[in-house]
Amino acid sequence: MATPLHIAVLAGTTRHERKSIYAARLVAEIGQSIEGITIEFVDPAEFNFPGDGNDPEGKDARYTAIVARADAFFIVTPEYNHSFPGSLKRMLDSELELYVHKPVALAGASSGRWGGVRAIEALVTSVREMGLVATFTDVQFPNVQDKFDTEGKLLDPIYDKLIRGAYAELIWMATILKWGRDNLPRA
Ligand SMILES: Cc1cc2nc3c(=O)[nH]c(=O)nc-3n(C[C@H](O)[C@H](O)[C@H](O)COP(=O)(O)O)c2cc1C
Repeated sequence: MATPLHIAVLAGTTRHERKSIYAARLVAEIGQSIEGITIEFVDPAEFNFPGDGNDPEGKDARYTAIVARADAFFIVTPEYNHSFPGSLKRMLDSELELYVHKPVALAGASSGRWGGVRAIEALVTSVREMGLVATFTDVQFPNVQDKFDTEGKLLDPIYDKLIRGAYAELIWMATILKWGRDNLPRA
């Protein structure tokens, strides 16, 4: 049997009262039920990235190892001032080469009705510069505070289908790009 694809699900904020963490955990949980992939959940609140940049002293070795072993990424970000949080940017910025030619799916969350679309659009620009390949099946969580109960249980069943759809494209892309990385000289 083929080695499962390994997907890192990245939460987007360290904010104490964060609601988007429920959406990120849901994405990870659904991923764990999909055959042929393994999931690793990455909470930026559990890492330490001193200073700025991707110089050796600005890295967290645990995050480096996660990025190295991941075949794909699924980022679930809240929208902060029409972009994505600085904590997510800082975490992403700590690496560079290890992202190249790996795919990334994007989900956004906001307390308003746009569901983090502007954070997703802002991320597309950054992840492309990192060498990541963005999929286009996004997931949005508008009014994220109403989508989960206080324990983080999903209240709107449509998200199961939406998230599985995003994984389907991500897995397709991850399969193709892994084959390319393993078999073709880098362009
Ligand atoms: C610093 C900050 C900026 C925000 N800016 C926006 C924004 O531009 N658009 C928006 O729809 N919601 C904005 N929000 C509300 C978040 O979307 C809301 O907090 C939501 O629950 C997701 O973020 P959370 O995971 O931190 O809770 C902002 C929240 C914070 C803390």
